[in-house]
Amino acid sequence: MSSTPASDTEVHNLHLRDRLGEIMALAHVNTFHPNAFEWPEARTPENLAFLSTMAYGTLGHERGANAYIVKELAQLAEMERHVSATMALILSELPRHPGLGELSEGHELHHAVSCFAAEELQHSNTFFRYVREISGIEPQLTDNHFAERLALFQGDDHPWIKLIALCLSAYVGESVMTVFERRANQLDPERRYFLTQLLHLHGLDEARHIKVDHFVMKELYAQLNDEQRQRMRQILAGIDDYNRILATEFTALIGDLAGVDISQVPAHHVQMTITQRFRERLFDNHGNPRTADELLDAELQQLLNGFSGEGHVHAKPYVALAPPGVDN
Ligand SMILES: [Fe+2]
Ligand SMILES: [Fe+2]
Repeated sequence: MSSTPASDTEVHNLHLRDRLGEIMALAHVNTFHPNAFEWPEARTPENLAFLSTMAYGTLGHERGANAYIVKELAQLAEMERHVSATMALILSELPRHPGLGELSEGHELHHAVSCFAAEELQHSNTFFRYVREISGIEPQLTDNHFAERLALFQGDDHPWIKLIALCLSAYVGESVMTVFERRANQLDPERRYFLTQLLHLHGLDEARHIKVDHFVMKELYAQLNDEQRQRMRQILAGIDDYNRILATEFTALIGDLAGVDISQVPAHHVQMTITQRFRERLFDNHGNPRTADELLDAELQQLLNGFSGEGHVHAKPYVALAPPGVDN
């Protein structure tokens, strides 16, 4: 009996499916459900005081810290809901695009993106509940531009173009959140406070999202031609523009409701700097996407170190062992 040898591309795609399978292997264990939180704990005086430490580095700024955290997490919840809906849209369109190969036919990509979408919807649910709990205000924009943001992904583009643009738009925010999660862990190593627990549990899912983003930005991106890459950048620029609009509108909304100038909060200043640097350096000189750790320079490492206690974002820096007698 003879068998046809698998082509290099088929072997490569099977290898990619295995990698996605490994990323998702513990998705049912390392996750959370919002029912599991002790919600009334979120607004105890000690928990509200910790927000000041997070946002200002000292106690005594509870009102400004509260407004800042409400603004950031309400805005994030809005973006997460959009990521979730857009991922469902992309998955629904896959059958319309025959010839995508093993990656679309196997269950691994479908599973990874489905879990990602489901988790983001629960994050959105959780963060909206949290910000209402700690502030007592209704932090939602009357016009959240949802239809326009979704419309960017409703063209007849290749599904990988849409998925890469979406993951890259989420990636910057997810990387910044990782830095904030690390800051909370550094300030509250025993995770006594609600916010630290919230960021930690959110981070269980986010650690996988980051791996899926890296997979998408490296492996799926490699499968696009130049024209498709340009189109991906166009959609990404469109969603980034809307994210900036949301940021401005949430700053105004929460600033008004809380009577606070959020731009004066120290953590907001660091966050803006990190976000801007990540966004402007997301592509290397050849136009290829790079990870948040690949884009760091000494100045940014120093900023991260001062803020979160570590000079890296996702990957620990790799230090090669030198042979005896050779300086590293
Ligand atoms: Fe999330
Ligand atoms: Fe995420």
